[in-house]
Amino acid sequence: MQTTVIGLGKMGRALATALVERGHDTTVWNRTPGRSGDLAVTHAATAADAFAANELVILCLLDSESVVAVLDGVDVRDRTIVNLTTSTPAEAAKLSALVAERGGDYLDGGIMAIPSMIGTPAAVVLYSGSEQAFRRAEDVLAAFGDRRYLGAEPGLAALNDIAMLTGMYGMFGGFVHAAAMVRTEGVPVVEFTETLLIPWLRGLFPALVGMAAQIDSGDYTAKESDLSMQVANDGIAEVSRAQGVSTELSEPLFTLMRRRVEQGFGGDDFPSVIELLS
Ligand SMILES: NC(=O)c1ccc[n+]([C@@H]2O[C@H](COP(=O)([O-])OP(=O)(O)OC[C@H]3O[C@@H](n4cnc5c(N)ncnc54)[C@H](OP(=O)(O)O)[C@@H]3O)[C@@H](O)[C@H]2O)c1
Repeated sequence: MQTTVIGLGKMGRALATALVERGHDTTVWNRTPGRSGDLAVTHAATAADAFAANELVILCLLDSESVVAVLDGVDVRDRTIVNLTTSTPAEAAKLSALVAERGGDYLDGGIMAIPSMIGTPAAVVLYSGSEQAFRRAEDVLAAFGDRRYLGAEPGLAALNDIAMLTGMYGMFGGFVHAAAMVRTEGVPVVEFTETLLIPWLRGLFPALVGMAAQIDSGDYTAKESDLSMQVANDGIAEVSRAQGVSTELSEPLFTLMRRRVEQGFGGDDFPSVIELLS
């Protein structure tokens, strides 16, 4: 399938490169000319020409505002539009309606990778919106990495994308707090991370599935480590203070855990705190 790529920033260029490397005939357009380097692609003079060139058009621009700006000047009739620009669920829904109104088919995407990962099995791209568009474009999208179609609701890819980043920042927060603690005694952070933290976290990952099942069922009854026990032993706050490390990252979490115990749910497992977020 011949393909157009709109946007040759760091990510757009990685996407175009992956297409070219897999032998796809690719047309590109970028607002600022001269960004394709020596890529073997066809250059469209205008965005309108780039949309006219191929039925499948992949966009990867800075934000939804730039996507709207480009879509405003082009004809999307009978086009399959795959938007890999990071967006919110509301923006994805708006763009999907806009494209449908103008006679095109819209698929939204969330890239869970950095540019150097594109085209490797480590890259995951989440998709949602028109299933027909996904099926039509799937062979081309395979060039970018693993692909997951999440459903017809256009905002689902964006929601899951942001949820995954939320999980990632939780892990990053725990990591920097732990590193701040050990370095107070001169422990090399790389050594601590490689020999202790990563094996510990890896061992805990499978437990997330059990916690997820508790959230799905609404039954948080603790079997091994209930909330009462966990807040009674708030060594994180005590040791952090003793070592002169701020508890700004851990305190909000422990505040929620204590509140849940005060509400009478001390016999619950940790995932019970989700009820204070929803
Ligand atoms: N880089 C990453 O690690 C990464 C990872 C996951 C997802 N993403 C997502 O991928 C998207 C692109 O990221 P990037 O790293 O490629 O960003 P980038 O290098 O800053 O490139 C931005 C692109 O958007 C274009 N653009 C900006 N405003 C525009 C407008 N009003 N009209 C037309 N074109 C416009 C730029 O064109 P000019 O060249 O003319 O400025 C450029 O092609 C973002 O939504 C980002 O969140 C990036």
